[in-house]
Amino acid sequence: MSSITIRTATRDDIPEIHAMLGELAEFEKLADQFVGTAEQMELEIFDRAGGPEALVAEDPAGDLVAYAIYFENFSTFLCKRGIYLEDIYVRPAYRKQGIGKRILSKLAEIARLRECGRMEWCVLDWNQNAIDVYEAIGGDVLPDWRIVRLDQTAIADLANKSPESDHG
Ligand code: ACO
Repeated sequence: MSSITIRTATRDDIPEIHAMLGELAEFEKLADQFVGTAEQMELEIFDRAGGPEALVAEDPAGDLVAYAIYFENFSTFLCKRGIYLEDIYVRPAYRKQGIGKRILSKLAEIARLRECGRMEWCVLDWNQNAIDVYEAIGGDVLPDWRIVRLDQTAIADLANKSPESDHG
């Protein structure tokens, strides 16, 4: 859809990106885990160095219809940085119009400019629609990797066990 513009997000976009993030959390049936505030998101994207970056898709009226949040990671095997896509979300009325693929293409352009070795992201195993889109753009869904996560409590517990810990 050519009337949609894909651009880098600005501070003014934060409330709407945060709202769409809530929509994605609902879609993924993970709304109970969505506790981050718009203020915290603004801080991490715009006020802390090396933080996440965001793209948005805007309609001619200036309303946001999609977003992506990504950051740079690193592959030791390639000895190259990469792009990690944290979220991509297109509002329901705008899906299947090529916007998601345009955002992913824009990200690939960014990855190429930064001489990245990889782009990677996670997808829930039941989200077949998204998996189909990712495979259609050349993505491999890796069958043999699992996500390992420590929540804030587990981080604190583990940090306290460090002999080098200031608080141990
Ligand atoms: N007419 C009809 N179909 C079209 C047109 C058109 N003009 N343009 C594109 N399509 C087709 C594409 O060919 C594609 O189908 P195919 O892959 O089977 O060929 C399909 O529509 C989807 O492509 P896009 O339109 O580019 O994708 P969309 O804009 O719908 O975005 C996304 C895909 C992001 C998955 C969207 O469906 C969405 O937000 N879903 C809900 C949230 C979600 O699942 N997010 C991803 C979670 S994983 C993560 O965040 C890393």
